[in-house]
Amino acid sequence: MKVILFGPPGAGKGTQARRLSGKIGIPQLSTGDILRENVKYQTELGKAALSYMEKGELVPDELILKLIKERLSSEDIKKGFILDGFPRTINQAEKLSELLKEMEIGIDVVINVDVPDKVIIERNTGRRLCSDCQMMYHIEFSPPKKEGICDKCGGGLYQRVDDREDKVRYRLKVYTKETEPVLNFYKERGLLKTINGIGAEEEINRRIKEAISCKL
Ligand code: AP5
Repeated sequence: MKVILFGPPGAGKGTQARRLSGKIGIPQLSTGDILRENVKYQTELGKAALSYMEKGELVPDELILKLIKERLSSEDIKKGFILDGFPRTINQAEKLSELLKEMEIGIDVVINVDVPDKVIIERNTGRRLCSDCQMMYHIEFSPPKKEGICDKCGGGLYQRVDDREDKVRYRLKVYTKETEPVLNFYKERGLLKTINGIGAEEEINRRIKEAISCKL
């Protein structure tokens, strides 16, 4: 199964991709997570991407496409994958189609997780991550047992620089201008399913699974 999880910043794509990946045993490919890992280890890609990420801008397509090409050539994606945070421009969507055509595989479904801007601001500004194991929390919706400390490994929690309210508002603008048009690209190809992204995580997961099974 090849799925794209689509939606504005903080819609819950990562949360849902991780759940789905655990349940159906196919990898989550998150361009955001791969970039943050590269920033952490100060690789060439990380150094080149950092200034864009800090500002809430998109990292240039050529860097992202190189990263995706490498990731899609791995053995573990043979059974399928869940793309999270990619593609985010029409150019990325077109290049992905070309790449998958060469590999003789196709996307089964694109799931658009629909969440209004007000909730997007709440979800992003309240998000916290563990600096050691990257476990994700929300100060209101899924808080750790002890403030600022990861339940799983005891590491310290931090806020992503791009999760400050001004940066979140800017990321939303970038989403509307650069990324939202990609929805039409997949709608025209009959691959798009939109689900309501408001509700408990389990309920949203149920809606996603239902949308996937309708398309298979
Ligand atoms: P990326 O990491 O992809 O950020 P994003 O798309 O902005 O998405 P997020 O990771 O912020 O949110 P999410 O939808 O995964 O939500 P989550 O599950 O975490 O990208 C970061 C940057 O990298 C970009 O700005 C760009 O610079 C660069 N980049 C990445 N990919 C790129 C590409 N393809 N092209 C160019 N540049 C690229 O949930 C958010 C919060 O909400 C959490 O705290 C969670 O606990 C909470 N939550 C989740 N679900 C629920 C729920 N149902 N109810 C209540 N709270 C919930």
